[in-house]
Amino acid sequence: MRFILLGPPGAGKGTQAQILAKTLGVPQLSTGDMLRAHVALKSELGLQVNRYLQSGGLVPDEIILQMIENRLQEADAQIGFVFDGFPRTLIQAKELEFICQKLNIKLDGVIFIKVSDDEIVERVCGRCVDVTTGQIYHVKYNPPPPGVEIKIRDDDQEEIVRHRLNVYKENTAPLVQFYESKGILKIVDGTGLIGSVTQRVLESVN
Ligand code: AP5
Repeated sequence: MRFILLGPPGAGKGTQAQILAKTLGVPQLSTGDMLRAHVALKSELGLQVNRYLQSGGLVPDEIILQMIENRLQEADAQIGFVFDGFPRTLIQAKELEFICQKLNIKLDGVIFIKVSDDEIVERVCGRCVDVTTGQIYHVKYNPPPPGVEIKIRDDDQEEIVRHRLNVYKENTAPLVQFYESKGILKIVDGTGLIGSVTQRVLESVN
């Protein structure tokens, strides 16, 4: 099972990727999580990319592509994966095709999670994440259990979220047509209960 979850910030890619990864027994490959881990470690890469994450801009394609090519060669990714937040530009999508060819990998599908702009802002501005496990919660729609230590992402402030949305529209939205033309795009309504979205996602991959 090799899937891409595509959609605007806050569409629920991370939430659904965590569930899919557990259900299908494959790793969730989130470029956002990988980059934040580098920033937290203050690695050379983390120092290089921090300003992009803070501003809500995109990290340069060549950095992302190198990170993905390396990650795809790790043992756990050999049985399959769920991409969350990658690819995000046409260059990344086209280069991914070369990487897949080189590593003899075939993508099974691209799931586009559709949610309106207003809902996105409300979702992202209420997001919190378990410090220990990385589990994603929402203060209203999916509150964390009592006692869980949570944190809020630096880029989840309304002004930055609106910028991320513009960056998405300019750079990532064209991928919907790109994958549609390849015949591998599935469109899923991302509204309603998290469990209902999961059901639609699973139906689309079966
Ligand atoms: P990244 O971490 O990928 O952020 P994003 O794409 O903006 O997506 P989000 O994580 O904000 O949203 P999501 O769709 O995962 O939603 P979630 O499930 O959390 O990227 C961050 C930054 O890293 C980028 O700005 C960029 O700088 C850099 N970057 C990353 N990848 C890159 C790449 N490939 N190229 C270049 N730069 C890159 O849900 C959001 C909230 O909604 C949560 O609170 C959740 O509980 C709630 N929620 C989910 N589903 C529902 C539902 N059905 N109903 C109600 N609430 C829901």
